[in-house]
Amino acid sequence: MFTLPDPDALLDALTQEEFDRNDGKMPYWATLWPSALALAEVVLADPRGLAGRRVLDLGCGLGLVGMAALARGAHVTFLDWEADAVALAVGSAWAAGFGAVEGVVADWRSPPPMRVFDLVLGADVLYEARNGPAVAKFLAGHVAPTGEAWVADPGRLHAERFPEDLAAAGLVSVERRALPPTQEARTLTLWRSARRGA
Ligand SMILES: C[S@@+](CC[C@H](N)C(=O)[O-])C[C@H]1O[C@@H](n2cnc3c(N)ncnc32)[C@H](O)[C@@H]1O
Repeated sequence: MFTLPDPDALLDALTQEEFDRNDGKMPYWATLWPSALALAEVVLADPRGLAGRRVLDLGCGLGLVGMAALARGAHVTFLDWEADAVALAVGSAWAAGFGAVEGVVADWRSPPPMRVFDLVLGADVLYEARNGPAVAKFLAGHVAPTGEAWVADPGRLHAERFPEDLAAAGLVSVERRALPPTQEARTLTLWRSARRGA
């Protein structure tokens, strides 16, 4: 998988002007976050596998979670608002020999018309107050009627509100499960959600 030798250099290079111009966009995509490692483990360990399933890696960053889904046989769409992230994630998948891959550069608050997915995966996407409601709304529109969303979070302050965000968007929490902690993340939580009545 492709990674960046020095992700912090992107943070250091960000000017206030760029930050203001780009809607407070931070280059968080360039780091592989503990939630992605934890969620990838969950995907790899799931006994059901994902053969032939349509999976979306939402806020994919470097794309580890989607790579895990590819390894389980899924057709994967990588989505991020950072074009470099999507290019790297898709490139990593191709380099690993996976062909059932596509990339979408989009803001999850205003996505282009897209299909629904059997499984939407999101690692560490709830880190700002504005994210939870927007992610929940996106999920409500893009999880298939019998599908699920799995969101992994490292104990971010704003993630505590995620169940309410899901309910407000018309989704139900199926499960809230603690994942094994790591040295970098003492708290890791998996939120599974689905459409109401599914
Ligand atoms: C903390 S990073 C996590 C990246 C990756 N999932 C991981 O865990 O390694 C959050 C990701 O969400 C993306 N992101 C944040 N806000 C977004 C938005 N409104 N639309 C699409 N992507 C967004 C960022 O560019 C970044 O890649």
